[in-house]
Amino acid sequence: PFSIAIFASGTGSNAQKIIEHFHNHPSIRVALVVSNKATAGVLDKAVAAGIPTLLIEKERFFRGDGFVPELTTHGIDFIVLAGFLWKVPPSLIQAYPSRMINIHPALLPKYGGKGMYGNFVHEAVIAAGEKESGITIHYVDEQYDHGGTIFQATCPVFPEDTPETLANRIHALEHQHFPAVIESVILSKLVKNQPS
Ligand code: GAR
Repeated sequence: PFSIAIFASGTGSNAQKIIEHFHNHPSIRVALVVSNKATAGVLDKAVAAGIPTLLIEKERFFRGDGFVPELTTHGIDFIVLAGFLWKVPPSLIQAYPSRMINIHPALLPKYGGKGMYGNFVHEAVIAAGEKESGITIHYVDEQYDHGGTIFQATCPVFPEDTPETLANRIHALEHQHFPAVIESVILSKLVKNQPS
């Protein structure tokens, strides 16, 4: 099967939805969950689902192509960043050209970049008085929150919203769309790679 690695630093609610979506899928499987944080909830979720996990240290992640061989060993074809908070080094991006996607909890190009993650994003959106926010799923390139957009969906921002209430609305949108978008991106690659 076509093998996905999910990279995540946090609770992993998106990772959980992705794992459930591809459970028993005929051609795609989640083969590995990678985290930079030993206490990240995502690791428990992966273990509970019987998926191999890998904890990476900073030194190894950012050193040369240090991390690519491990992914090759696990047969990883595609990388999904789901709340992963380290910038991906060029070696990894070059090893997975157009095979690495990220989800961001706002409508890029607004509210992206260094320091813009999780509730910091929602705080900024509320502080700016935005009436609308949403999610962006995009290819990963060498700048934060920058590669080509694949998919966006929107939701309202209400005057009484706090970062937490907005985060809940955004999470629901992510859970609704991210697994299916991952599947359609991968299936379109698989079709293109068929011998004619
Ligand atoms: C998600 O909302 C994701 O969009 C965000 O982290 C959250 C992870 O939640 N990613 C970023 O902010 C990246 N810049 P989860 O651990 O419950 O899936």
